[in-house]
Amino acid sequence: MTTTTKTSVRLSRRVRDIRISPTIAVMNRAQELLAKGVDVVDFGAGEPDFPTPALVAAAGRRAIAQGFTKYTSNAGTKALRDAIAERYSRRWGARVTCDNVIAGTGGKQELFNVVLSLVEPGDEVIIPAPYWVSFPDQVQFAGGTPVFAKTGAPKFRPTLESIEAVASERTRGVIINSPCNPTGAVIDESELEQIIEWCSARDAFLLFDETYEFFVYHGTKHVSAMRWYNEHPETVIAVNSMSKTFAMTGWRLGFAVAHPELIAAMSKIQSHSTSNPSSISQQAALAALTGDHPEVEQMHQAYSERRSWLVPAINRIDGLCCSDPDGAFYIFPEVKALFGKGSVRDSNSFAEFLLEEARVAVVPGIAFGSDDHVRISYATSMERIREGVLRIEAAVRKL
Ligand SMILES: Cc1ncc(COP(=O)(O)O)c(C=O)c1O
Repeated sequence: MTTTTKTSVRLSRRVRDIRISPTIAVMNRAQELLAKGVDVVDFGAGEPDFPTPALVAAAGRRAIAQGFTKYTSNAGTKALRDAIAERYSRRWGARVTCDNVIAGTGGKQELFNVVLSLVEPGDEVIIPAPYWVSFPDQVQFAGGTPVFAKTGAPKFRPTLESIEAVASERTRGVIINSPCNPTGAVIDESELEQIIEWCSARDAFLLFDETYEFFVYHGTKHVSAMRWYNEHPETVIAVNSMSKTFAMTGWRLGFAVAHPELIAAMSKIQSHSTSNPSSISQQAALAALTGDHPEVEQMHQAYSERRSWLVPAINRIDGLCCSDPDGAFYIFPEVKALFGKGSVRDSNSFAEFLLEEARVAVVPGIAFGSDDHVRISYATSMERIREGVLRIEAAVRKL
């Protein structure tokens, strides 16, 4: 996991021990080619290809026009935190108020604040694998040790059994991301309940990242861990984001809902790092969370159609094998049948091969803890998806 590089500047061990996000490396190479005018089909991006809903963007513009451009309270405006609390009370029955909520500069920042607030050096944090790239490094940054609980095809769903198998007396918490980036796995409701009870009984935290909550398919239901907040308020922590649901990646607005004591601790950290998230983005987020935005369902519909076309198309390519994920906007095909052919030895060399030979950018699975897979994002137009699949097919045939 750790790659310590020798530098001329005397960097702290803390920063030397974390990796640059491997997904950024592939995206950089793809961007480099795009900047040179090369026609790359970009399946690497982890962001919606849709604009921010019209009324949400208008609320941002209005905030600027009205001069709502100053510092706000550190944890976010009361209006935004009230709206988030109200939403969690209404949807999941959680007894929460604005004191249970902090808004920050992206969900990523709030995940970081949670981990820094709860993890001590020597603590272990269990993360189902394949995992989203930042979880292990955030744990490591806090001095903890990430411990991986294996999940597998076809559904990659985390189970209590897989978590118990890697638990120890040093287990401090569990991070569940559902729907999952990169596998699309959506955790089973009863399994989630059992994991929460298990964490609660051991005085461990359950950090639930529901960034992709609105993107679930074929009748799958998303259930938030906050549904069990009232029974386990010291255990359950939810982190969510405006980025994917409302196509607001650039606005940088995410939030956490948790026990007020934890929120106060996170707020303390935030007050010494970024302070409040952008006042303008907070007004846009408020409009997003309190209004009606048909664009969200339209995005969901588009992802659903793309997924339905893409999964069988990938499975028709010799050497690629893809299960049908329940959520998010990624597929995670297995590519290990191609190892040993041409220059392809692992997920990284396969991604390099596709970029150089097919001009298609995918993210190597090793970035997410599985060297047998690659991640393909279908947050791009149907036309580009068709073109990308044709290119992959042609390149793989030459191997
Ligand atoms: C699983 C997961 N959690 C959290 C985030 C963070 O999103 P943001 O910081 O844009 O809110 C992402 C972004 O890619 C993600 O995929």
